[in-house]
Amino acid sequence: MEENLLSIKNAALSLILDAKDDKMLEEIKLQFLGRSGQLTLAIKEITKVPVEERKEIGILANEVKQTIEEALNEQEKILSKKRKQIIFERIDVTNPSVKPPLGHLHLVTQAIEEISAIFSKIGFERVRYPEVEWDWYSFGALNFPQNHPARDEWETFFIKESPHEKYGAMLLTPHTSSGQIREMERKKPPIRMLNIAKTYRRQSDISHVPMFHQFEGLVVDKDIAITHLKGTLDYFVRSFFGKDRKSRIRPYHFQFTEPSFEVDVSCGVCNGKGCKVCKAGWLELGGAGMVHPNVLRAGKIDPNEYSGFAFGFGPERCMMMKEGLKIEDLRILYSNNLDFLEQF
Ligand code: DAH
Repeated sequence: MEENLLSIKNAALSLILDAKDDKMLEEIKLQFLGRSGQLTLAIKEITKVPVEERKEIGILANEVKQTIEEALNEQEKILSKKRKQIIFERIDVTNPSVKPPLGHLHLVTQAIEEISAIFSKIGFERVRYPEVEWDWYSFGALNFPQNHPARDEWETFFIKESPHEKYGAMLLTPHTSSGQIREMERKKPPIRMLNIAKTYRRQSDISHVPMFHQFEGLVVDKDIAITHLKGTLDYFVRSFFGKDRKSRIRPYHFQFTEPSFEVDVSCGVCNGKGCKVCKAGWLELGGAGMVHPNVLRAGKIDPNEYSGFAFGFGPERCMMMKEGLKIEDLRILYSNNLDFLEQF
């Protein structure tokens, strides 16, 4: 009997030490301590042992049981520790990781951020006004006569909504100049506004997209003159295109400025001499002028006390001119074409 108990103990201990996981341990437990386990059966046999030996055998059987239970517990702890170690070793935090694919800002967003930074250095405050706008802000207050062709459906998107009794039809703003009046309503002079927003026109061909961006500068203060406009344009052109570039203003006509100009930037390839890229040495940037007195009046500013200048350019166009990009079809800018976009 004694021998039997000892051999059960040894067999159990060696199996326990070899056990590789909890499932194996569970099986060993059953095999020895279960209802019909080897030790359980052996203990039942104790009744057959002569009375004088029974006590001693009983004590031994108990010790064997305890030893097996302890060994099972111990092995379970060792296995769980090993498991944790394996997990820890598998995640080597010092390993250089695989970089996830990183995107970058869209070409137009990059241009907008750069332009905002340039103007903020000379005190222009960046604002954004509604894209769904009233006729009054887009045209009426900007000195457009009632029958001006820009109001024509061919140019402007109109919203199917009954017209406002004071502000007229609802539309998608076709230029950022609508922000001029909004700004004058928001703030008394001095005004230094930079309104960058999406603008909409009914056009789609290789050089036009129906949604594009504009940035509109507006300065209103006492004694503002054309020289301030020219200085601001020169500063922008030097900062954005490069220190050797110059701006030029040519007489033009806009409803909301008097006098009005078209603004050119000297060609970066030939430096103003004339080449294949620019033809006459200059590239067209956009419009500008001195704010029309009627526009100041519409914004409740007295034109006898204050004067101002304004300009409106396209960030898309500026970016393309800076990069020397000749895009065959402008619509590619908004077509989610990664082969194109990843180059910038
Ligand atoms: N709003 C004009 C356009 O979309 C551009 C423009 C011209 C803006 C002259 C101005 C300006 O502020 O003074 O074509």
